Amino acid sequence: MQDLLSFSDWTASSMKALLNLAVDLKTTPEKYGRPLEGKSVVAIFEKPSLRTRVSFDIGINKLGGHMVYVDSQGSPLKDREDPVDVGANLACWADAIVSRVYEHKTLVDLAAGANVPVINALCDLYHPCQALADYISMFENLGSVEGKTMAYIGDGNNVTHSLLIVGALLGCNQTVITPKGFEISPKIAKHAAKLAYENGVSLTIANDINELGRADILYTDTWLSMGDDTPLEEIKEKFDEYQVNEALMQKSGASYVMHCQPAHRDLEITGSLMDSEQSLLMQQAENRMHAQNAILAMLVGKVPLA
Ligand code: CP
Ligand code: NVA
Repeated sequence: MQDLLSFSDWTASSMKALLNLAVDLKTTPEKYGRPLEGKSVVAIFEKPSLRTRVSFDIGINKLGGHMVYVDSQGSPLKDREDPVDVGANLACWADAIVSRVYEHKTLVDLAAGANVPVINALCDLYHPCQALADYISMFENLGSVEGKTMAYIGDGNNVTHSLLIVGALLGCNQTVITPKGFEISPKIAKHAAKLAYENGVSLTIANDINELGRADILYTDTWLSMGDDTPLEEIKEKFDEYQVNEALMQKSGASYVMHCQPAHRDLEITGSLMDSEQSLLMQQAENRMHAQNAILAMLVGKVPLA
């Protein structure tokens, strides 16, 4: 295993082992020493970031390595040179590449050129580091992921895709409810359904908000992802009844609410729910670093998955 572009081809046992490694690294970091001692990681981002950029930088430092940030914001990497050549050049100096891109293919090309690990820090299709962090948060609060139910409500996007893949591998039942026209990718839905079947969990995909049954967790994300310049007014009408709020929490019986952030108060989620005791938002943000440190320790520090 060289890169982490998505968890699509992972097995359930590797996924569980990675989650365990992340929790162990978080709770007993001294057991692992400094697995990235003397290692350099390049982070090259085509889009803005707060959580991902800072949590990678600080996390890499805690593991003994250091990060160089390359600002490629505002223009796709491929506008200047082919991503395969960017990857090959970066690999001359760096021990790993972390990249946030518009198109998944850019990551595939970077990885084809680089003979060091490439880690997906968000693309149009996936946000794997986010999903791992989120299931760590679920595990910490519910005591397990297996047999629990996570319901995602809102725009079917990169975050939804990764949650579905990681959740199915970890044995979590999942529901996805999106407005018509904002569904998840049919190809990824099919793959997630296969994983859910193989792992004995349910996957419900619907447009009608009344299909939301009982859930342990409600999860939402922005209605407009980075790079989508649809006017908010157009979107608001379509998404209004999909807002995650106190009434929906009560209706589903959910104990906790999650959001990858950046969040928009009183749009996709009420500000009062974000600030409530049911909110896991800051724990999710904190766990970004622990999730990524486990991925880096595994891919770069060669810490084995038990
Ligand atoms: N959740 C997340 O990836 O946040 P940033 O866009 O701020 O990195
Ligand atoms: N779906 C959002 C996630 C941000 C972390 C986006 O792509 O902008």
